[in-house]
Amino acid sequence: MCGIFGIVTGKDEALGPLLVEAGKRLSYRGYDSVGCATLTSDGQVDLRKDVGRIEDVARRLAFHEMRGTRGIVQLRWATFGAPSQANAQPHLDSDGDLVGAHNGNVVNNVELREAFIGQGMVVRSTNDGETCVHAVERYVDQGFSMLDAIRHAYHDLAGDYAFVIGRVGENRLYAFKKGSGLVAGVTDGISVVSSDLPSLLPLTRRIVRVEDGEIVILEPGRIELRRVEDGRRIEREVEAITETMEEAQKGGFAHFMLKEIHEQPRRAGEMLHLYDASPHVAPLVERMKAARNLYLVGCGTSYHACLLGATYIARLAGRPAIPVLAPQFVPQYVPAVGRDDVGVFVSQSGETKDVLLALEAARGRGLEPLALINVIGSTLMRESRAYLPLACGYEISVPATKTFLNQALAFLYLALRMGGHSTAMLHTLPGLIEETIGAAEVAVAGLAESLARHDDLYCLGYGLTYPIALEGALKMKEVTYAHCEGMLSTEFKHGPLSAVTDGYPVIFVAGPEDVARIVSGVNEVTCRGGWAIAIGEEDPRLRANAHDLVVLPPAGPLFNPLLAVVPLQLLAYRLSVARGLDPDYPRNLSKTLTVD
Ligand code: G6P
Repeated sequence: MCGIFGIVTGKDEALGPLLVEAGKRLSYRGYDSVGCATLTSDGQVDLRKDVGRIEDVARRLAFHEMRGTRGIVQLRWATFGAPSQANAQPHLDSDGDLVGAHNGNVVNNVELREAFIGQGMVVRSTNDGETCVHAVERYVDQGFSMLDAIRHAYHDLAGDYAFVIGRVGENRLYAFKKGSGLVAGVTDGISVVSSDLPSLLPLTRRIVRVEDGEIVILEPGRIELRRVEDGRRIEREVEAITETMEEAQKGGFAHFMLKEIHEQPRRAGEMLHLYDASPHVAPLVERMKAARNLYLVGCGTSYHACLLGATYIARLAGRPAIPVLAPQFVPQYVPAVGRDDVGVFVSQSGETKDVLLALEAARGRGLEPLALINVIGSTLMRESRAYLPLACGYEISVPATKTFLNQALAFLYLALRMGGHSTAMLHTLPGLIEETIGAAEVAVAGLAESLARHDDLYCLGYGLTYPIALEGALKMKEVTYAHCEGMLSTEFKHGPLSAVTDGYPVIFVAGPEDVARIVSGVNEVTCRGGWAIAIGEEDPRLRANAHDLVVLPPAGPLFNPLLAVVPLQLLAYRLSVARGLDPDYPRNLSKTLTVD
């Protein structure tokens, strides 16, 4: 997830070391390239950037030499456009008078870029951060002041992003945002701005949070907010911050896992905006539709998304897709795959060896590899013929949460498109996920207390909720160290039912179409003294038969799985904390498994 930081001081000074330190504080967000720009009082611009780790790039390009009264550092996490020197940020305008950098996604980047090239501007990359700079240049060239040029540019740039820009011959920086976070800070003689709080904290604890529709103007020791709408000044009290750096990185949450669960509505919304505007979706959909056999391949959580994806594709596109665990793909399907087949390889890290080996084996027989990835520049991205990003930003906690939700949502999006359906309704999902988090937090807190005593439980689902039961059980295993088995609810009676004794906990994930079937399973458990916990939409049958019901907002069978996973993530998290464990770093597990 990209990060920006900008600083304005009163006099020319060595800003390089300060920018490197600020950049390092942004690095927990994840990045693949880094760049710094400084502007001096006599109109010089120094821009240095490249792909790599901040320590290496800073050493190679001698960032410590960079001087000026203003400086910008940017860490880029590629979404579209390969990590490259040209795509690294900051960027210049055509004649080098403006320099700026952004984080987030400008979804009308392609159209704007073409328009700017058509107008004769010098466009040096495919990166949308550069588009932000040219969007301001367009109005500066027409004679508008910087403030007015930015006000116009704000309306032209669609998407979720934050942006900082400076101009030669002034002693200011300007910044604004849509959707993403942006925080400004002030102290004696300097002002600073950043996409997040931690990078500001060692410099100042006096901050102002910038809202959508506002422009922040930074001057030495002074910040001013202006309304985008009419340029009028906004008065806002400076806030005094008491958080530590680690607390700030966790955004006020106790763990990254909880923070990442809470990020899900925003990440889902951002990915949907991106796909709606992306020229890469349609060709991918056509390839999937044209496949003789369509395989969905992944491991762990990513495999569960494949399983749900296959159900979406069957239902919405009317064609089979075969979900398969990557290592099993090789013996079970690769001997039979051929040129007309397509595989969608799914991996958060893009580095899971099991997935890469499966891809290699299948490609050797002519299969066309496509991918869903979160890390641009990963091996999986480079090995696939085409890919879509999950646009989740860096996922720090070992248990995957936000990446699962976006993987599953990506499959729902693709399935709708394959079937020729509209994707417009999907935009109600971020709000529904938000609502689910709020309600589930309360419901789960009560359950966690009693469940924490149990070392053995089951999580059952059917149809569209079957993959959710598997994913919920995996989350539980990962962070609580309890044995939790995910199963098809109807299979429970074929053996595991023998485990049920007094108070034995079984969680049922009930899709709205399958309540009757789930209620049968619930009764098989309760009549033997077991403890049945249901997760589903409000329904008198679930109320009457299960001991506990975690209520999901009414959203219908297709959206239900994407909501049902949320209480399971939260429950696993709460149980982990109740047992005194660290959910972010479970014992024995690794976020990225590059071994057999
Ligand atoms: C590891 C992680 C799991 C993850 C799996 C697949 O086992 O601990 O959380 O689901 O790898 O990872 P991927 O990066 O390929 O999605």
